[in-house]
Amino acid sequence: MTETHSPQSEEQSTTTDRSSADLPPGPRGLPLLGNTLSIGRDPLGFVESARAYGDVVSYEAYGDDAALLFDPHAVETVLVSRADEVRKGEFETDFGELVAPEGVAFTEGEQWRRQRQLLQSSFTPDRVYGYADEMVAEVIPLLEELDDGETVALRDAMATYTLRVLTRTLFDLPLEDEGAETVRRTVTAIQTYASPRRLAIGSLLPSWFPDRVEREYEASMAALEALVDDLVARRRETDASGDDLLSVLAGAQYPDGARPSPDEVRDQLVTFLFAGHETTAMALAVACWLVAGRPDVRAELDRELEAVCDDGDPGLDDLDDLVYTEAVVRETMRLYPPITGVYREPETEMVLSGYRVPAGTTLQLSVYGIQRDDRWWDEPETFRPERWLADGDSSSGERTLESAPDRPEYAYFPFGGGPRHCLGMRFAMLELQLALATIVRHVEFDRVTDSLEPSLGVTLDPGPLEVRVRQR
Ligand code: HEM
Repeated sequence: MTETHSPQSEEQSTTTDRSSADLPPGPRGLPLLGNTLSIGRDPLGFVESARAYGDVVSYEAYGDDAALLFDPHAVETVLVSRADEVRKGEFETDFGELVAPEGVAFTEGEQWRRQRQLLQSSFTPDRVYGYADEMVAEVIPLLEELDDGETVALRDAMATYTLRVLTRTLFDLPLEDEGAETVRRTVTAIQTYASPRRLAIGSLLPSWFPDRVEREYEASMAALEALVDDLVARRRETDASGDDLLSVLAGAQYPDGARPSPDEVRDQLVTFLFAGHETTAMALAVACWLVAGRPDVRAELDRELEAVCDDGDPGLDDLDDLVYTEAVVRETMRLYPPITGVYREPETEMVLSGYRVPAGTTLQLSVYGIQRDDRWWDEPETFRPERWLADGDSSSGERTLESAPDRPEYAYFPFGGGPRHCLGMRFAMLELQLALATIVRHVEFDRVTDSLEPSLGVTLDPGPLEVRVRQR
């Protein structure tokens, strides 16, 4: 990192206490509050400014000792090589308590292992690639509904799409408008209720304070749980012998004969409804918006799609040839990773990048910071899909993705890594690639929103991202 730090405020002055010499440096916060206010005000700005302290940066938030990691090698240590010495930890568990405490994204140890094993069967390559046609078929009616010249908020439009794909493929069920509305309302409520800004405000409010955000969260969560209970009951009544995820859960039995409790089934479904559509929607919306602002990228996509798909829509057989499309997807998630930080807590003291990190520290592995670090990325702030392509001979017109990049593996990890890497990674990549290609075949977008200044809910929030439609 070439940047140097110049103290500007009390919160930004370095820790100089000799007794903590081997602990990582970091921005000193306010008494009692630590860095909570800075994080609440501008969580991504806090990460950006913390980078100046080095590869491991200590801070304090919401009453906990925490450290940001900006070193891809340390990320590999935490997620992969010493994965059995870390837990998801308190930060994640607290969030899990709000959403789905017994869902696979939040459980630990043996409970997590057997859940993951059970669910894995719904995400084998064969199963996932079998969804390709539905992923394309679901996006076409949405595009055909758009009028020429109409202004569309990409974020909402793509969330409608990804939710439809999720329920049709994984749950084998069309979710009526009312159900979809319940899911969207809950996701929005969770995003607001568990955002860094809200956590900061919440930590200052007395418990008796009348809290509208909390009430909205509780009401929408109750509605979502009722919806999910109804889905499971209907599937059990009709036929739970299918191999879609809803049937697997409704009829599940672990190897020891135990069956998941009703709460566990419900939490799993809530986990998938949340994790499975919001992240992908955000990535797709941002990809479309980025392409809308870059005629050169748009022209490359058009060229590729024309060569690969002729006059038709893309399909599974085209996937390997949609190289530039994949590069656009990867580059979108480099600059705007839907999950900006992965959290872990070491069970024993660890030394990471030469610094001592005590057991129980909340580690924030900074996806956002590392993927914009100029040690690994030329012109890191620039959207440049070409960086993902192999150099060299393009005289044959054939392009390939780079195969042995000259950077550490964990300089890019939008889907996490190690045993707890994203269960839906293959599903998401397939959906993103096929949906983007189909959208480009049918419509063009002109930007109405002219700049993207993301904030942070639970996931990255790019705002509504408005564009004007041109039918092709
Ligand atoms: C672009 C889209 C997506 C992104 C960027 C993304 C990102 C992530 C990340 C970073 C993690 C790891 C969190 C951690 O280690 O603490 C994760 C976990 C997970 N994701 Fe995704 N995800 C996406 C789409 C999906 C989809 C489509 C599904 C399901 C259909 C899904 C289901 C899950 C589940 C169940 C976990 C928890 C895995 C475990 O703890 O064993 N995700 N995701």
